[in-house]
Amino acid sequence: MDYTLFTAAIVFLTSGLCVGQSVLPPGPLTGAIGGRVKFTTTLSPPAKPFVSVSWTFNRVNIITSTTVNITNADHKDRISLDRTTGSLELWNLGLRDQGEYRVSIIPDGALELQGATTLDVYVLLSAATITSPPATLIAGISSTTLTCEAAGNISSIQWIKDGLPLCPSNNITFSVDNRTVHLSPVQRIDNGEYDCLVSNPVSNRTASHNLTVNFGPQNISIDGPLAASTGYRVSLSCSADSIPPATFTWMFNRTETGVNNTLYIIERMEALHIGNYTCTATNNITGLKDSVVHKLRASSAAPMWSFALMVTSVLGVGLLQL
Ligand SMILES: *[C@@H]1O[C@H](CO)[C@@H](O)[C@H](O)[C@H]1NC(C)=O
Ligand SMILES: *[C@@H]1O[C@H](CO)[C@@H](O)[C@H](O)[C@H]1NC(C)=O
Ligand SMILES: *[C@@H]1O[C@H](CO)[C@@H](O)[C@H](O)[C@H]1NC(C)=O
Ligand SMILES: *[C@@H]1O[C@H](CO)[C@@H](O)[C@H](O)[C@H]1NC(C)=O
Ligand SMILES: *[C@@H]1O[C@H](CO)[C@@H](O)[C@H](O)[C@H]1NC(C)=O
Ligand SMILES: *[C@@H]1O[C@H](CO)[C@@H](O)[C@H](O)[C@H]1NC(C)=O
Ligand SMILES: *[C@@H]1O[C@H](CO)[C@@H](O)[C@H](O)[C@H]1NC(C)=O
Ligand SMILES: *[C@@H]1O[C@H](CO)[C@@H](O)[C@H](O)[C@H]1NC(C)=O
Ligand SMILES: *[C@@H]1O[C@H](CO)[C@@H](O)[C@H](O)[C@H]1NC(C)=O
Ligand SMILES: *[C@@H]1O[C@H](CO)[C@@H](O)[C@H](O)[C@H]1NC(C)=O
Ligand SMILES: *[C@@H]1O[C@H](CO)[C@@H](O)[C@H](O)[C@H]1NC(C)=O
Repeated sequence: MDYTLFTAAIVFLTSGLCVGQSVLPPGPLTGAIGGRVKFTTTLSPPAKPFVSVSWTFNRVNIITSTTVNITNADHKDRISLDRTTGSLELWNLGLRDQGEYRVSIIPDGALELQGATTLDVYVLLSAATITSPPATLIAGISSTTLTCEAAGNISSIQWIKDGLPLCPSNNITFSVDNRTVHLSPVQRIDNGEYDCLVSNPVSNRTASHNLTVNFGPQNISIDGPLAASTGYRVSLSCSADSIPPATFTWMFNRTETGVNNTLYIIERMEALHIGNYTCTATNNITGLKDSVVHKLRASSAAPMWSFALMVTSVLGVGLLQL
């Protein structure tokens, strides 16, 4: 063993590091596979060059720089030492570079300075995906689990729903590492786009998944006039909140009409059209139905109109008489 290396090793083994005097910022430093990292000391270039700068990795010499440089074979072509500050740069990082780095600097005419830190090397994240069991989900009945997966070192996972952070609730629970979200039971409001944001200190990835929860029909209603005049076209429109969209059937006075549209059209209003219109919405996945009744009356608009004319004419006559 080389003498310089030997003494450097002795110095490291015998002198405990004093945290307060470390010339390296507290770690850990992070690097990506294939990337580079710089161990920057807190020192400014001194008036007189350092007598020696020595770096070790897991207590094995990387470089010891005095009047000569002794460099470890594995580090030879991928380090650069700044002799004026003692800072060391290391590139072409691999997982094998994870560990403890120590520096020992002997200034000209002063006591030895030391520092220690650790390096964590991360595999870049790639190919994030969200998976869930292929099942038809029904609100209030089914449960499901979304699982976020990615290749590489995962440090943290965050879930976003429709652009906002997803919060745990009675029916939404996260695994400890956030890798899975359990929805039990699923509800109507769980429909939407789920993103999982996977990150580590050197990279991040997002995966997206649309969750479909079948529900309804709910909130069924008929939109249309309450009264119509003879000869007019009348359009009644039925709607309901439902996934998948509900199918509709129309009854008139308890008799099926055969109309199975959202729209029920009366081309020319006649007296025989007066009565009750019932719209029934059916969801073919949930198997649920809901109905609503709309009462169509004969319009009193025409008599009202003639009555108004009459009143005006009476008033007009009255005015003339004054
Ligand atoms: C030792 O390495 C340092 C930093 O790379 C360099 O500045 C210096 O010239 C080298 N010394 C010798 C003797 O090669
Ligand atoms: C990243 O994952 C590899 C295994 O794939 C492991 O050896 C390494 O320690 C991990 N890095 C960190 C910083 O956890
Ligand atoms: C959880 O689901 C149940 C049953 O569907 C529901 O009554 C309850 O309101 C839900 N809780 C929350 C916090 O959404
Ligand atoms: C899990 O997610 C929550 C909320 O999004 C976040 O605060 C927490 O740091 C995450 N935990 C992990 C281990 O990713
Ligand atoms: C994700 O990585 C990109 C660069 O790839 C960066 O610009 C962005 O800030 C990162 N986002 C988060 C949340 O870390
Ligand atoms: C989810 O649905 C939206 C529209 O509702 C669409 O733009 C988006 O591409 C879908 N995302 C996925 C992952 O299928
Ligand atoms: C029914 O629809 C109305 C108006 O669109 C809405 O305000 C209400 O919240 C809905 N009710 C339910 C139970 O979804
Ligand atoms: C129409 O509905 C009313 C209540 O809104 C009811 O009294 C009447 O019996 C119904 N008529 C028919 C033919 O169903
Ligand atoms: C709906 O109406 C169309 C034409 O009016 C018909 O071909 C179809 O079979 C009907 N569907 C149902 C479910 O009644
Ligand atoms: C429908 O029912 C109403 C009462 O709700 C009744 O006045 C009307 O004559 C009925 N029409 C037909 C065509 O049965
Ligand atoms: C259920 O209804 C939807 C939309 O109304 C339709 O696209 C789908 O084919 C129907 N499925 C079955 C099994 O009838």
